[in-house]
Amino acid sequence: MKFFVDTADVDAIRELNELGMVDGVTTNPSLILKSGRDILEVTKEICGIVAGPVSAEVVATEAAAMIEEGRKLAQIAPNIAVKVPLTWDGLKACKVLTGEGHMVNVTLCFSAAQALLAAKAGASFISPFVGRLDDINLDGMDLIADIRTIYDNYGFGTEILAASIRSVNHMTEAAKIGADVATAPPDVLKKMAAHPLTEKGLAAFLADWEKTGQKIL
Ligand code: E4P
Repeated sequence: MKFFVDTADVDAIRELNELGMVDGVTTNPSLILKSGRDILEVTKEICGIVAGPVSAEVVATEAAAMIEEGRKLAQIAPNIAVKVPLTWDGLKACKVLTGEGHMVNVTLCFSAAQALLAAKAGASFISPFVGRLDDINLDGMDLIADIRTIYDNYGFGTEILAASIRSVNHMTEAAKIGADVATAPPDVLKKMAAHPLTEKGLAAFLADWEKTGQKIL
């Protein structure tokens, strides 16, 4: 499973990228707001750090304007994936932009039917929002599983990008189901390293080591 990092925080992206943990980046208007930076400038910087796809989201709501915005965003760098919302106009924009050779990430997906349409429109990525479904007492992982089944039934090439990931458990469940990609905030990726038994075991080993009186260096 590929790891995308869901942030516009360049320091966090750099740190994870140096560890080889970043296969791509996703941003959205809320994350751009949080960064406090200009979208074109910060996205260009991110594209210079990460070799994989960097999603940058359009904000127009009509297809023609989405296409124009998508073309402008795609000029930032060759690794831009234009992010469009899963609306009828977004699907139209997806079809045109993919036809022009751009990667397109169709976002704000909350149903398998929507995901089927995105694949038909040629999307490079479909972004089902797991956490936001959990927020309304649905099981976001069921959606990932349904989309996996449907895409495998017909051999669609659209990659399933599990989004709105909020926990370590979301990461492992998405991996078990076979999501192609998961995008998570930096803190979730870092939390994946933590386990209380690792901490407890390490503390015991260090205490015993202290008693040996030895040194390695
Ligand atoms: C995905 O591309 C989105 O940017 C993101 O995963 C949304 O996550 P949220 O629901 O935690 O805001």
